[in-house]
Amino acid sequence: EVTPEFTQNLPKAELHVHIEGTLEPELKLKLAKRNHVDIGQESIEDVRATYQYDDLASFLAVYYPAMNVLQHEQDFYDLAMDYLQRAAKNNVRHVEIFFDPQAHTSRGIAFETVINGLYRATVDARALNVDAQLIMCFLRDFSRDSARETLEEALNYKDKFIGVGLDSDEHNNPPMKFFHQFAKASAEGLHLTAHADIDQKDSIEHIRELLEVIGVERVDHGTNIVEDPDLVEFAAKNKIGFTSCPLSNSFVSPFMKGDEILELLSKDVLVSIHSDDPAYFGGYIGDNYYAFADKYNLTKEQVVTLAKNSFEASWISREQKDLYL
Ligand code: ADE
Ligand code: ZN
Repeated sequence: EVTPEFTQNLPKAELHVHIEGTLEPELKLKLAKRNHVDIGQESIEDVRATYQYDDLASFLAVYYPAMNVLQHEQDFYDLAMDYLQRAAKNNVRHVEIFFDPQAHTSRGIAFETVINGLYRATVDARALNVDAQLIMCFLRDFSRDSARETLEEALNYKDKFIGVGLDSDEHNNPPMKFFHQFAKASAEGLHLTAHADIDQKDSIEHIRELLEVIGVERVDHGTNIVEDPDLVEFAAKNKIGFTSCPLSNSFVSPFMKGDEILELLSKDVLVSIHSDDPAYFGGYIGDNYYAFADKYNLTKEQVVTLAKNSFEASWISREQKDLYL
């Protein structure tokens, strides 16, 4: 029987966690005080009372304003270190962490402040036995020019992150808007992934663009690919990873997209379980595994397959994967 202890202790790779989505109410209040930022909330209950959302847009409307408490390099360090301690408790052995520089540069925080704070935490995480890397995401509801400027600046710190991703509001913001930036990032040796959010119209066309034109190695969410058997076959053959997040899925679907995850598993697609924005959606990676396993009565073998898939879909070397598997 799969227990919460089993899912927590299983060695895992976390491939879909937004560092800004790990901002717990406690740290938010502490940083607001430290930086003298008036957030209009004074208690944990006040903060939690703002957590009202039932789709991507209403979530993002709560998510971005919360970031105002992040001002200095040390704040980004503290945010990431808090997360990495939780990751260690969840037996996350390897993590590829998303960050959204434009959510900070657009409010006057230097790129350097953001990446240096986050990166320093990933270095210190080695002492926790967590191998941590960073993935820089473009905000898809920002302009192409903003993405180009962000990538140009980021390339000055190329040794501090391993790939690029794409997140934020997908509505009317197809992947092809960022074709050139993905091509440039790939030419620079960076890995590629992108969100294809399951509740978005045109999502299947967005997945097609990602796989057939842009050439991403993973799709974040995207389990609705099951609608298109040809694309599923392509994904299985090319070992494309799908990073699904049951607890955030449950905000858009009562069944946390479990049917889609199981169908992909049965077709040998590299689907795996992650946590998205754990401070906002009710749990870290062990909780996400357990919620899914419990609702669908998964066997231990199925849960272990999901964890193996997380290492397979990660961007560590073959030798390192074999050590974990
Ligand atoms: N930013 C943080 N979490 C996100 C998600 N699940 N989808 C799109 N953008 C995000
Ligand atoms: Zn996400």
